[in-house]
Amino acid sequence: MRAVRVACVQNDPAFGVRDANLDAAEALLEGVEADVVVLPELFASGYSFRDRAEAEAAAEPFPDGPTVRRLLAWSRRRGAAFVAGFPERAGSRVHNAAAVVADGRPLACYRKVHLFAFEREVFDAGEDGFPVVEHRGVRVGTMVCFDWIFPEAARSLALAGADLIAHPSNLVLPWCQRAMPLRALENGVFTVTANRVGTEHRSPRPVLRFTGGSLVAGPDGSVLAQASADGTAVVVAEVDVLRARDKRLPGGNDRLADRRPHCYGAPTAPSKDA
Ligand code: ACM
Repeated sequence: MRAVRVACVQNDPAFGVRDANLDAAEALLEGVEADVVVLPELFASGYSFRDRAEAEAAAEPFPDGPTVRRLLAWSRRRGAAFVAGFPERAGSRVHNAAAVVADGRPLACYRKVHLFAFEREVFDAGEDGFPVVEHRGVRVGTMVCFDWIFPEAARSLALAGADLIAHPSNLVLPWCQRAMPLRALENGVFTVTANRVGTEHRSPRPVLRFTGGSLVAGPDGSVLAQASADGTAVVVAEVDVLRARDKRLPGGNDRLADRRPHCYGAPTAPSKDA
């Protein structure tokens, strides 16, 4: 048994008021004890950027921007790892990114690979794949929101050795909360989807309603903890990461070792725009 406490934060940020959103997230974290804490995608900036210029203005370098500095301070104070979304500026590029920090140190910056809908107008797609870092014996992988619909994302993380997939999200479609237990089951990992609630209406973009229901799922496809569809919340689950190291199923199959990639062809071939 290697017990790890994971916390999944469901917040309700207002667009464009980063410092107030950081203070509100800090208030939500009050009294929460966990080894790994996951916050939503773009959790302090808000989501619905009107255009590229607005995203550029909000974007911060990693790790020397105000949002990541705050995450570093939280992680140092709590001796925890934090995974949380923020808009990243890297030279002339702007990414929908997630910072991975632990014990006051920056460990990785994931740049969202699969951009959703209007995000393609305001962000550059990540090209660096999906990171896995180790913190106190648990291997934490990261993907962001819409990556969920591409099973290759979670599978890449499992093949890279992730025990737990941190999944900062701003979900607006209704399916992901049902899909994540399957991502956990098919890969034999824990998943931690931190979603937000509330609405944003930033004309001319449509009204966006975020669907909450943040959840932790286990390698057997069970839901270990889940927040409601509305309201801010922090849900906590204690997980045994050693369960994610054994990919065997009843009957003796192994979810990763028994794959037969030479028979798959198409899933590993370039897509039409690659
Ligand atoms: C999403 O990727 N934020 C839907």
